[in-house]
Amino acid sequence: QGTVPVIAIDGPTASGKGTVAARVADVLGWTVLDSGALYRLSALSALKKGVADTDENALADIARQLDIRFQDGKVLLDNDDVTEQLRQEHIGEMASRIAPLPPLRDALLERQRAFRQAPGLVCDGRDMGTVVFPDASLKIFLVADVDARAQRRYNQLIEKGFSANLGDLLKDLKTRDDRDQNRSVAPLKPAADAIIVDSSGLDISQTVDRILTHWRNLG
Ligand code: CDP
Ligand code: CDP
Repeated sequence: QGTVPVIAIDGPTASGKGTVAARVADVLGWTVLDSGALYRLSALSALKKGVADTDENALADIARQLDIRFQDGKVLLDNDDVTEQLRQEHIGEMASRIAPLPPLRDALLERQRAFRQAPGLVCDGRDMGTVVFPDASLKIFLVADVDARAQRRYNQLIEKGFSANLGDLLKDLKTRDDRDQNRSVAPLKPAADAIIVDSSGLDISQTVDRILTHWRNLG
């Protein structure tokens, strides 16, 4: 398993990780893992089951027992299509509140590593290059100005028909950045061998090209 190549893309919320990871995986014909979805699914499942966001052992049980399927760009939880629901800001917010709990992170660790399948894996999250796949072939730390990220998230929500307020989003993003960067377990930070890519002035395909160029330069 250790020889299956991994491209790890980490970075703050709305830097474009998920979109870019999916495109890179598509170009290479590799598997993709949106690790944030596992934290979001844990949050959603806890909400459905009435489990408190502070009950770390119950949350770890939920993470271990998640009945999920990723299929044709859709995410199913207990056979229900939760793709749209998962992207809601309050779910992301709850995910970031439960994400610091070590039993939950441990429960998700092996689940994430199981996605490492030939011919390769592109994954995105906060700790792909630092904790989950420390031996990844290529580690990208994708950043963008907080204002650019808030605007992207705003456009994304409006496009999907949700209501959104740019000022509130900016505030929420800053809170989430702060929480993700300052937690003691698996904080958001670039791995020592990560390449920093700033996508503030880049569109999606330019960002994808940068990453593919780094990948090809390795070979
Ligand atoms: O899409 P966005 O970047 O807003 O969030 P996400 O990647 O779906 O992740 C939601 C939350 O899960 C983040 O704010 C993190 O706190 C947590 N997370 C994590 O701790 N580790 C990961 N590898 C991925 C997500
Ligand atoms: O996964 P993460 O939270 O980092 O971000 P995302 O959900 O992939 O991207 C957030 C939004 O920004 C999406 O609507 C992307 O289409 C958009 N985006 C962009 O406008 N320009 C980029 N260079 C990357 C993403």
